[in-house]
Amino acid sequence: MLIAHISDFHVFHDRAETPLVRPDAARAARRVVEDMAQFSPGFDAVAFTGDLTDGGSTEDYDLLRDVLSPLKIPVFVVPGNHDRRATLRSAFGGDIPFEDGHFLNYENHLGFLRILALDTLIEGRSEGALAPESLHWLAGKLASPALAPILLLLHHPPFPTGIDALDRSALTGGREEMAEMIRAYQSPLIILAGHIHRPFQAIWNGAYCAVAGSPAFQIALDLAASEHGPGRVSEPYAYYVYRIDETGGFTVHTRFVALD
Ligand SMILES: [Fe+2]
Repeated sequence: MLIAHISDFHVFHDRAETPLVRPDAARAARRVVEDMAQFSPGFDAVAFTGDLTDGGSTEDYDLLRDVLSPLKIPVFVVPGNHDRRATLRSAFGGDIPFEDGHFLNYENHLGFLRILALDTLIEGRSEGALAPESLHWLAGKLASPALAPILLLLHHPPFPTGIDALDRSALTGGREEMAEMIRAYQSPLIILAGHIHRPFQAIWNGAYCAVAGSPAFQIALDLAASEHGPGRVSEPYAYYVYRIDETGGFTVHTRFVALD
């Protein structure tokens, strides 16, 4: 099973909401999609961990659907803090079995792989949270004793980067409750996230975790907690490639894409 992990495309139709986003974010996104579409052997699916668009308008999602159109495989999306629930639901609701109600949580299956997608969006805020309803939903999903490896997707990482300014705006609500569930879960679990705009990997409560970088802008590695926080940096962009087997064992590769 081959899965590509991308995040934070921030494509926009009219103008960027976020000053750091490159003006040609859609063009950069198309380069990444073109690379994934041509990758051999083909990917089975793409995990896209939020900030799909920069403003969340219907026009933004129309543009995003067009950007993603070369991909003829499932694209599992979750909302980021720059997305909007109603427009995201109508843009992707034909392909993705979102739960009814307010939140965009869902479960899906791809061969032997179980996909659990979590909605951590607090509309109008940069940081994210798992609402009690979403925590309850996740607890129910993890309670079923399936042996299938799980790919758990969410935008705001519950695991720390060590970059203080970014950790303060990551998953701020429901983190401890989620940690307890992850510690208790016995089967293979891969947690994929975004939001940080630089790729890194971690082990958190026994689970492998990763954040994918962003083609829209990258943030500098600042582990010194400098006064002004980390700024934008120009570094090569790569997305992750996961090669997963039925036992949940996997290899992760970085696939570099020239954006300029
Ligand atoms: Fe983002």
